[in-house]
Amino acid sequence: MIRVEGRAKVTGAARYAADAAARGHAHGALVPATIARGRVVSIDDDAALALPGVLAVLHHGNAPRLAEVAGRLGPDASTRVLQSDRVPHTGWPVALVVAETAEQARAAADALVVTYAREQHDVAFTADHPGHYTPERVFPYEPAVTVVGDVDAELAAAPVVVDETYTTPAEHHAPMEPHAATAHWRDGRLDVVDSNQGAFVIAGDLAGLFALDPAAVRVRAEHVGGGFGGKAVTGAHVLLAVLATLRLGRPVRVVLDRAQVFALTGYRPATVQRLRLGADPDGRLRAVDHDSATATSTLHEYVEGTGAGTRVLYAADALRISHRVTRLDVPTPRMMRAPGKAPGSFALESAMDELAHRCGVDPVALRLRNEPAAGPVTGWPFSSRNLAACFTEGTRRFGWDGRDPRPGVRRDGRWLVGTGTAAAVFPALSVPATAAATAEADGTVTIRVGATDLGTGARTALTLLAAEALGLPVDRVRVLIGDSDFGRAPLAGGSWGTSSWGAAVVKAATRLRETLAEPIPAGGITVVGDTAADLGAPAERHRLAFGAQFAEAAVDVATGEVRVRRLLGVFAVGRVVNPTAARGQLVGGMTMGLSQALHEEALWDRTLGTQVNADLAGYHIATNADVPVIEADWVDDPDPEMPGGIKGLGEIGIVGTAAAIANAVWHATGVRHRHLPIRPDRVL
Ligand code: MOS
Repeated sequence: MIRVEGRAKVTGAARYAADAAARGHAHGALVPATIARGRVVSIDDDAALALPGVLAVLHHGNAPRLAEVAGRLGPDASTRVLQSDRVPHTGWPVALVVAETAEQARAAADALVVTYAREQHDVAFTADHPGHYTPERVFPYEPAVTVVGDVDAELAAAPVVVDETYTTPAEHHAPMEPHAATAHWRDGRLDVVDSNQGAFVIAGDLAGLFALDPAAVRVRAEHVGGGFGGKAVTGAHVLLAVLATLRLGRPVRVVLDRAQVFALTGYRPATVQRLRLGADPDGRLRAVDHDSATATSTLHEYVEGTGAGTRVLYAADALRISHRVTRLDVPTPRMMRAPGKAPGSFALESAMDELAHRCGVDPVALRLRNEPAAGPVTGWPFSSRNLAACFTEGTRRFGWDGRDPRPGVRRDGRWLVGTGTAAAVFPALSVPATAAATAEADGTVTIRVGATDLGTGARTALTLLAAEALGLPVDRVRVLIGDSDFGRAPLAGGSWGTSSWGAAVVKAATRLRETLAEPIPAGGITVVGDTAADLGAPAERHRLAFGAQFAEAAVDVATGEVRVRRLLGVFAVGRVVNPTAARGQLVGGMTMGLSQALHEEALWDRTLGTQVNADLAGYHIATNADVPVIEADWVDDPDPEMPGGIKGLGEIGIVGTAAAIANAVWHATGVRHRHLPIRPDRVL
């Protein structure tokens, strides 16, 4: 099945956050800070307020106060918009102008006169920045420093050592649908239609920040046009819309423009990673030392956990994983598709390729030689681990066997051609969720679950799971999603959506089927499935999805252009619920990995402290013409420990892709590229 909501989307019937019907809503336009660090000294709103249609100018001096909160948002000052005169980075909202129309609001926002007191800023990230410190944790929940055995001794004793530094740039979120929210405070209830990754979670944040009873907040996000982590946070757009409706008592809509999306919705921070691998001559690893430096904002400590894959991929006698971070006058970075794992895999899997060459071992054979029997850090068993099966199937499909390992020897006209591979890993998670199943009078069943479909096909997968559990044809099952009133549900993130919401849906559906005699009779019966009690304390097991990535790249020796000619990913992702959507997710992740390898790079102007290429003209993302036919498939990967055997696959497609491409570029040319993106000027 393709998409249950496909017709609604292509006919325009599907309403996104900025399309939501709201009677008499006003429009809010953000006023972004133009300095990178300092204070707002004054805001002169006389001219703005005199313009037609302008209703209010909200700023730190007059906006409603947010409550002090603990928990998810406690230490995160990025959410405290219009609460102080402090400017933490360019693009930070210093005011919201509200007017009858979007055009009036924008015109008045431009007319607002803001005076700043500038302070010396610092937006320049380097590995040896004096501000680096070791945090306690890295995203999501891992220790910043992990030590197993004596890495220095093993490195000193190892006959073969790879010691290289790899860098990855900051990368922006740029979903097709910009962030938007319409908020309305009425009859003692806050009603919000938002573009986000989890209505229930965002509603909880809003209840905390506005000191409301959670039952007094309703957030809906039925259709969302893309979100890869940048809609997982309660963003400035929704906070400003709520502040404004509280002030005005009428619905207010705030839509970010593209530049504001780049400034205010998180991004993957830049990393500098030093990899030291020590090995025996046959490639068996004795030591792995993975040290990362990254940056965060002054508002919140988000630390990209680049070592996550290194913790679980390869056996070694000694292992050290360390992360450092420095605070700069930049927006707060956030999770972005495969946070940590995507940039971390570029470094680790490039280094493994370098080791393979030094040892004269085939890159696939090198990885299989270092397969661990248990978690290299924890000693925990793997609930299932089919990485070797992915490589076996991948080498067969790609035609890897018989590859000439020498670099720079395959030529096709003016192109040098090479192939490369990399491993991929991503956690398989399932978290508590609740769902309700209602037998309707007409013999159909309605499922209500607070899931989010970011365009992933999640809603379709849940429909298939419900129909299967109910023993009904798909067209008699209706799945409603994206409403915080449907009860507890996790964000669409962590690749856990299908396993988490799915478990609740299957539970509710199964109970309904048990409750009713078949076929389902007269309606009005609702049963709830809640999985909170089912998941229990996590056992000491690694639950992971795996994959093997293969790339063929051609390099134009005259221009430095890299063309990816083929990509193949073979994954072990547990049970696949809907092959069409699953393939779409994996191919989408690999496409994003290609874009990471060759195109994406967020830049800051060190002097001005501003973002340089914060728009879709300056920030390059792979387009159709850059993307070859991409094949994604999976091996049989039964995992009885995951609910329904489902591991999730929303993120693993991007893991390892950039390394496989970089390794192919090396194989094509004999020149190693350790800095992403592999731009033509770097190739020449
Ligand atoms: Mo995804 S980065 O877990 O939203």
